Amino acid sequence: MSQYTEELRSTAKAMVAPNKGILAMDESNRTCNKRFQKVGIDTTEEKRRQYRQLLLTTPNLGDYISGAILYDETIRQKTDDGKPFTDVMKDQGVIIGIKVDTGAKDLAGHPGEKVTEGLDGLRDRIAEYYQMGARFAKWRAVITIGDGIPTPACLEANAHALARYAALCQEGGLVPIVEPEVLIDGDHTIDRCHEVTNQTLNTVFNQLYAQGVAFDQMVLKPSMVIAGKQCPQQSTPQEVAERTIQCLRDNVPASVPGIAFLSGGQTVEQAAQHLNIMNSESLISQCPWRITFSYARAIQGPGMEHWAGDANNVKKAQELIQHRAQCNSAASMGKYSPDMEKQPAMA
Ligand code: 13P
Repeated sequence: MSQYTEELRSTAKAMVAPNKGILAMDESNRTCNKRFQKVGIDTTEEKRRQYRQLLLTTPNLGDYISGAILYDETIRQKTDDGKPFTDVMKDQGVIIGIKVDTGAKDLAGHPGEKVTEGLDGLRDRIAEYYQMGARFAKWRAVITIGDGIPTPACLEANAHALARYAALCQEGGLVPIVEPEVLIDGDHTIDRCHEVTNQTLNTVFNQLYAQGVAFDQMVLKPSMVIAGKQCPQQSTPQEVAERTIQCLRDNVPASVPGIAFLSGGQTVEQAAQHLNIMNSESLISQCPWRITFSYARAIQGPGMEHWAGDANNVKKAQELIQHRAQCNSAASMGKYSPDMEKQPAMA
């Protein structure tokens, strides 16, 4: 037991509370700029600030969103009238999260594979973020499926870094979101994705155990088991949900309080539908954990596109953000239906 044990347990539970999921808005400047460029938004710090303000001031955000993951630039920013974003989040009842990895870099000696960096100085950065009000963190590892990859070297390097990150977070009072993303890019089958996700989760939980990470004080953020985007044989939604649950049941300890998926390039409707089926009675009754979302693109996509950097579009963009949050909140309870897509109205 550390001084933070009880706080970590209750934060982890609150992150995956019923009806709620996590809003990932922690794109690095580079990724955020890439998304801005696609829809013609200027790639400046001020535009990023305006956009994150739009997200965080969405009316009733806290009804659907338990916590939001910020980037280092964002956690230090303020609204137009000088209110720190962290205070806006506290008023919305949204827990403050922070991305602490420094990105996926080429893994030496392993062409086509990446390892996530950011352990150097992490203890001090965690202490600073805790002081600023953060109560959870995120670290994303990237696993690519291809010819002869992933290699054991890649799986082990990434799992080891995730485990050391998670242990440091728990020591410093932040709940670690452990995110091993198996990429959807490629022409691999759902069988191959299942196999790789199995190996990935197995390696990750072995490393978490080896580093003494407390499973009841973390949240797992996996990708779903799904055929690659370029695979001629695309998976059905039922297949995705069943395979994903099977894979989780084979690898995730029951004491983990919750699993919050990334959307990984699925369409907004797919991301909601897959989550919804996983929360249908026949599947969720097999699971000891709560199953919800930690989506970036599948919540932000339509809102960002509509905003397009124009202040006149803020209100409608917020309606679109709220609507996606609402759809995914319903899906996390098995209560989503495609009919909900027709009614993007502010609650
Ligand atoms: P997507 O939902 O857009 O995949 O992003 C989730 C995330 O946080 C990736 O690290």
